[in-house]
Amino acid sequence: MKTGLLLLLLLSLTIPTLSHATAAYPSVPGTTPADCSFSDGDTNTLIPPRREVYGDGRIFDITHRITATMPSYESPDGVLGQFLWLPYSMKNGSLANMSVFKLPTHTGTHVDSPGHFFDHYLDAGFDVDTLDLEVLNGPALLVDVPRDKNITAEVMKSLNIPKGVRRVLFRTLNTDRQLMFKNTFDPSYVGFMKDGAKWLVENTDIKLVGIDYLSVAAFDDLLPSHLVFLESREIILVEGLKLDDIQAGIYSVHCLPLRLQGAEGSPIRCILIK
Ligand SMILES: *[C@@H]1O[C@H](CO)[C@@H](O)[C@H](O)[C@H]1NC(C)=O
Ligand SMILES: *[C@@H]1O[C@H](CO)[C@@H](O)[C@H](O)[C@H]1NC(C)=O
Ligand SMILES: *[C@@H]1O[C@H](CO)[C@@H](O)[C@H](O)[C@H]1NC(C)=O
Repeated sequence: MKTGLLLLLLLSLTIPTLSHATAAYPSVPGTTPADCSFSDGDTNTLIPPRREVYGDGRIFDITHRITATMPSYESPDGVLGQFLWLPYSMKNGSLANMSVFKLPTHTGTHVDSPGHFFDHYLDAGFDVDTLDLEVLNGPALLVDVPRDKNITAEVMKSLNIPKGVRRVLFRTLNTDRQLMFKNTFDPSYVGFMKDGAKWLVENTDIKLVGIDYLSVAAFDDLLPSHLVFLESREIILVEGLKLDDIQAGIYSVHCLPLRLQGAEGSPIRCILIK
């Protein structure tokens, strides 16, 4: 009797939390109420929760879900395509399901190592396994940049990011345009122009640069901006972040790349904690 009542109470307490999580991401496609419902124990309605927000609105998943239709920088048709196979399947008599995946290392939300644009750094071993986890984890600022420009020196200056701030996630027009949810790669995305990258390196203490499309560098300055950021091997670039529907401000960021020895990039899981 008592346990039943307690269970009911607990259940009724969880419901507002769930609807809150859904409401917090109105613009993320796929975040329908059905995606967030829990199984009631009946196998006919086994629906796993897919969440964007955890911990009663305190923890934000800022990683994009990897899907076959997500945009891809490397792919000629702009779409990632099949990345997951199931060579061992229970339906075919295997003891367990066991899949295999194959992804470009710069897929979706991902990190660049210095070896991405400096061949001699990669030869010397500056792969994603050498990235500093202290830079990838700690207090971070989420800022909105002006929507009518790429990130130039002038834009960087106008943001007035105080000295001492070491991790900044730049939210741009890319988020408004939902570019990461579009299949086709869009070269008109917003990113850093060379002078913006240079201004950041010379005038701030920023060591973690995060952005909301597949490259921190604008398409027109792809090479020069990356070179400016990566040359010192002190700055870590996290690209393809999902920054929808989160208030600008200070958070604790936590990003963990795969420990892929020899790789100049890796998919990364990033969260923000309020
Ligand atoms: C197990 O394999 C079947 C196909 O045989 C597939 O439909 C199912 O989704 C797999 N389960 C998991 C957990 O991967
Ligand atoms: C099961 O095996 C058959 C025959 O090899 C194959 O055609 C089919 O795709 C397999 N199914 C799964 C789910 O792996
Ligand atoms: C940013 O630069 C790209 C080229 O790299 C250009 O196509 C786009 O229009 C620019 N965006 C803005 C908002 O100026």
